[in-house]
Amino acid sequence: MDNPSSKPLLLCLILSCLLVGSWAESSSKIGINYGRVGNNLPSPYQSIQIIKSMKAGRVKLYDADPEILKLLGGTKLEVSVMIPNDEIINIAANQTSAAQWVHDNVLLFYPDTMIRFILVGNEVLSYSSDYDKEIWHNLVPAMRRIKAALRAQGIKNIKVSTPLAMDVLQSTFPPSSATFRSDISENVMPPLLHFLNSSKSYFFLDVYTYFPWSANPKNISLDMALFEGNVKHTDPGSGLVYTNLLDQMLDSVNFAMEKFGYPDIRLAISETGWPNSGDLDQIGANVHNAATYNRNLIKRMTANPPLGTPARPGVAIPTFIFSLYNENQKAGPGTERHWGLLRPNGTSIYDIDLTGDRQLSDYDPLPPPVNNEPYRGELWCVVAEGANLMELPSALNFACSQGNETCAALTPGRECYQPVSVISHASYAFSSYWAQLRSQGASCYFNGLAVQTTNNPGVRGCVFPSVTL
Ligand SMILES: *[C@@H]1O[C@H](CO)[C@@H](O)[C@H](O)[C@H]1NC(C)=O
Ligand SMILES: *[C@@H]1O[C@H](CO)[C@@H](O)[C@H](O)[C@H]1NC(C)=O
Ligand SMILES: *[C@@H]1O[C@H](CO)[C@@H](O)[C@H](O)[C@H]1NC(C)=O
Ligand SMILES: *[C@@H]1O[C@H](CO)[C@@H](O)[C@H](O)[C@H]1NC(C)=O
Ligand SMILES: *[C@@H]1O[C@H](CO)[C@@H](O)[C@H](O)[C@H]1NC(C)=O
Repeated sequence: MDNPSSKPLLLCLILSCLLVGSWAESSSKIGINYGRVGNNLPSPYQSIQIIKSMKAGRVKLYDADPEILKLLGGTKLEVSVMIPNDEIINIAANQTSAAQWVHDNVLLFYPDTMIRFILVGNEVLSYSSDYDKEIWHNLVPAMRRIKAALRAQGIKNIKVSTPLAMDVLQSTFPPSSATFRSDISENVMPPLLHFLNSSKSYFFLDVYTYFPWSANPKNISLDMALFEGNVKHTDPGSGLVYTNLLDQMLDSVNFAMEKFGYPDIRLAISETGWPNSGDLDQIGANVHNAATYNRNLIKRMTANPPLGTPARPGVAIPTFIFSLYNENQKAGPGTERHWGLLRPNGTSIYDIDLTGDRQLSDYDPLPPPVNNEPYRGELWCVVAEGANLMELPSALNFACSQGNETCAALTPGRECYQPVSVISHASYAFSSYWAQLRSQGASCYFNGLAVQTTNNPGVRGCVFPSVTL
């Protein structure tokens, strides 16, 4: 056998060095979730200009919108497309429909558009109606068919996965004790992990330190949630030392996977972030914390060499921040409409450098945090300023139809009948509805018609029910 000359060997070494280098670089590019649940957002064309100007490395879509995929053609952005939950069963059913999906949503744009991830469904395992459970069992078959359709086209650089939420875990703390939920651990997780492992794909996780912290601010320190902590927490099971909550959450998934015999599946973060504003009863949703979280996150995730987590040191974690814009048509509490880096008019809510090049000390000082302590006192839910009066009657009817005797005090002759105006009746109904049903998850929102207030709206013997915190 010919001894290879040292020249090609050297070249080879250099090449592999270069490859390793560029792989590490590409994996540490920060991605952005381009959510579009708003009626006041810039056009897709403007949005992609904005995403490019922010120097994002990747963009994640919640669909495979053809206009957006076309506009992304020729850009250097790596793209993640998503198959809606309600198409999963159909795609799992036969290879023809999988091939059709890949044709319509990938081949028409690829490789000009750098599609790199196909995410099958969104948080599929967080829903559990009978129909949802049918989707659970079709999830991996659909992923396999999409992968096969790509392979049939000779496409190797698109990973297939599915973003899951932290609720796939039964317990999360300490990380070494984490296991997958029992209702998915037998039939859903084993084939999913097998697929991710054998296709060298990523376990995509939607992971927010905001939620465990805001649900339990007494027991979890805000600094841990914002990567500002210098307290070290040792996991008694593993002996690993943690300084931030994100690493704990990521490693709980790592440990759960390891218990199934998959120590090598890499994590990717499909969503993470911090709300820049929220309702009066929501702690810690402010610009100060949002900027602190996202800036520290970017610094960590772009570190070279990669930091990884205590259980997987040195392993890069591709990360998509949620979200590009504040999205005004998202339902639920106020935080839901305030995850954006940008206002709907495209201006930034706080300065942020997605490349990770900027030193944290080079940012301008932030406004002080306004609500890092829980609100204490009474709150009412009243008609918002500027609410569309045409929409009030149906919201009023809805509120009154919920709960027990919600609007009894509004009937003629009763104490809150006067003044007979749709605004004051709706304000009463919203307050009464919210006071009764908040503990069951009801929001003071009504599609933007309602807002929380600390000002007691009660009048002349009519007591508005309140929420007391
Ligand atoms: C595959 O599924 C599609 C959509 O459900 C259906 O129209 C088609 O007949 C199926 N093809 C085969 C071969 O079963
Ligand atoms: C996971 O993938 C690796 C590399 O392909 C392989 O060596 C290993 O056996 C797989 N693990 C399982 C549990 O299938
Ligand atoms: C906070 O931690 C304490 C001690 O570990 C525990 O007893 C308590 O239940 C926790 N509180 C909440 C709200 O989780
Ligand atoms: C964008 O919106 C913010 C907040 O509503 C406003 O203060 C700012 O002037 C707007 N900027 C532009 C360029 O429209
Ligand atoms: C309404 O009253 C019934 C019977 O007292 C009770 O079981 C139910 O939980 C109440 N519903 C609400 C929303 O308070």
